[in-house]
Amino acid sequence: QNSDSRTLLKMYEETAKLYSHILLKTENGSKALKYLNNRDIDKNLIETFNLGYAPNNSDLLLQFFRDRDISEDILKKSGLFAENQQGQLFDRFRDRMMVPITDEAGNIVAFSGRILDKDASTAKYLNSPETEIFSKSKVLFNLSNAKKSIRDNQNVILFEGFMDVLSAYKSGVTNGVASMGTSLTDQQLYTLSRLTNQINICYDGDDPGVEATYRALTQLNDDRFTYGVISVPDKKDPDEYIRSEGSEKFRNLVKNGVQTPISFILNYFRRHYNLNNEHDQLEFLNQSLQEIVKLDSPVEVDMYVGRVADEMNVSKESINKELDALRRSNA
Ligand code: CTP
Ligand code: MN
Ligand code: MN
Ligand code: MN
Ligand code: MN
Repeated sequence: QNSDSRTLLKMYEETAKLYSHILLKTENGSKALKYLNNRDIDKNLIETFNLGYAPNNSDLLLQFFRDRDISEDILKKSGLFAENQQGQLFDRFRDRMMVPITDEAGNIVAFSGRILDKDASTAKYLNSPETEIFSKSKVLFNLSNAKKSIRDNQNVILFEGFMDVLSAYKSGVTNGVASMGTSLTDQQLYTLSRLTNQINICYDGDDPGVEATYRALTQLNDDRFTYGVISVPDKKDPDEYIRSEGSEKFRNLVKNGVQTPISFILNYFRRHYNLNNEHDQLEFLNQSLQEIVKLDSPVEVDMYVGRVADEMNVSKESINKELDALRRSNA
């Protein structure tokens, strides 16, 4: 670690402290505190995740670090500031609830800031840019907190959003992480592989979340892992589900509701195609067989052949014949 990196780590640490202080101890933070309380994020959770508030002020942080004689060069490198046309720096995060992002060791290396009000004119979440200490493709949100629980539970739960990780944590599901809005990178998979060999995907239950789950399953074929899917009902995201249905129901879903990839994929095809239409029926059959043919276990093959036969209202025998034909053409 060079001296710039050490300075940056120190700055992120101090920034998180400042934002936390503003949230919890000042009048300026009351709006954000109210927002968090409305989302059922209590004092305990705020402290666990070190949440804060960046006030609506364009040079609060700038003054803070200038008073500490931090050089312009480091200020620019920190990613905590943006630069206007005239080359003047100003605080990047303003009027946002602040979520610190830590590296595996627990050092704060970035922030994600969420707007408090619905406002279409600006992104809901604003993330730190890449810096000497932060690479989006390496970091997994909450990994430092979740590590032990991932080992104990022998699986990691992959969520879409920070708020899902927080709500799950509060409900007692503490082995959750989230990537920063991208699919898992080789780096992240490698990091996880040292802790567990089971990845359970628990993305949002809405259409984009279901599509993302399907995409993830087709892309993730790293042999080090077994994959599972936790589908959240009613098109909710995990946070919404927990808040409307309660912690216990969510813990139950996580414990007993893990689907195999093939089961999720067949459901996905089932919803995608209109089985009253012949063209769609055949597409459904083709797509399903392409997946079933990949299975190693004869019992599993038999089970899912049965499911497809039921859906199509045809005999298992005929499906098995199709499967044999596919195997021959693949050989
Ligand atoms: N995201 C982002 N920028 C956006 C929207 C989303 O970076 N404008 C990322 C964030 O990491 C977010 C994740 O994508 O956590 C999932 O997006 P979404 O489901 O829309 O947000 P939620 O996590 O549900 O956020 P919230 O509950 O606060 O609305
Ligand atoms: Mn979403
Ligand atoms: Mn969501
Ligand atoms: Mn949400
Ligand atoms: Mn077609």
